[in-house]
Amino acid sequence: MSGRHASNGGRRHLLSIGDLGAGGIREILRLADSFAEVNTRAIPKVPALRGRTVASLFFEDSTRTRLSFETAAKRLSADTMTFSAGASALSKGESLRDTAETVAAMGVDCTVVRHRSAGVAVQLSRWLDGSVINAGDGCHEHPTQALLDCYTITERLGGIEGRHVAIVGDIAHSRVARSLVAALQLLGAGVTLVAPATLLPPATDGWGVKVSSRIDAILPRADVVYLLRLQRERQERALLPSLREFHERFGLTAERAGRLADHAIVMHPGPMNRGVEIGAEVPEMDCAVVAEQVANGVSVRMAVLFWLLGAEPGAMAAPSADASGTPEPAPAAEVGDG
Ligand code: NCD
Repeated sequence: MSGRHASNGGRRHLLSIGDLGAGGIREILRLADSFAEVNTRAIPKVPALRGRTVASLFFEDSTRTRLSFETAAKRLSADTMTFSAGASALSKGESLRDTAETVAAMGVDCTVVRHRSAGVAVQLSRWLDGSVINAGDGCHEHPTQALLDCYTITERLGGIEGRHVAIVGDIAHSRVARSLVAALQLLGAGVTLVAPATLLPPATDGWGVKVSSRIDAILPRADVVYLLRLQRERQERALLPSLREFHERFGLTAERAGRLADHAIVMHPGPMNRGVEIGAEVPEMDCAVVAEQVANGVSVRMAVLFWLLGAEPGAMAAPSADASGTPEPAPAAEVGDG
């Protein structure tokens, strides 16, 4: 199998983009192409992970990531289990480890975890027997978001190498930015971070990126403009004079979007705050690919689940027409209700 991956006793995990390397990213993007085809079928379901159980452990709010993983698991015919922090025994004082082990004791092959603290996914990978996927840990990483973004850029622009990606907004508090920068660099794109000094990470020297506070100077040279929300739930103090001033200086207004190169695309991981980092009407403009990102997220997460659970280590290849649970048409009897 190409690329390194974090493993524990032979099990694979997806904890950070660095675990994958360029080879691993390319392999998952190739797999995602096969699953994208499955998702165009009248019955978008294959038996690839029949008998496997995928648990979602979300200790932080989520709309698209959680639904996307659950949809992906169901389309692969896995059983799914969902845990919500708000409705759990956490409120009765149960620890993270006890909570995770309780879920695992029900027989889980893969745990998808989101938590406000950096490092929780790595910690769970040491405690649990199955595979672990990091669905966002604090300000640290969100590798599946970076993968679906790379898939979307490749689909729209034909490739990533040599492209110029401007990431604009609250980079300091963004796990999306950290994973995306790592992935783009592995695949040979140039990156410029565009933000006021208070929303940049303390040290970007090691990031290998350019930094700017002038969005208007960057836009004409960008192939991709990637916008990030102000993640106020992670900001410990006031970092901006006002939302209006941020919008004026850094927001991608419709007027600014109109000045992009014809081929350029506008991306956002969601949730969007219209009128702040993105002009209210921009998501509906032709350059915006936000809905495509969401749709591609399902195919990419199917690819990640299959990559982790669908084959024996060393036996991984692009899905083919054999019985190893591939994107071949599922016999009618195997198409359940999900
Ligand atoms: C992001 C996240 O949770 O990190 N959203 C997502 O997963 N699509 C970005 C954000 O919350 O702003």
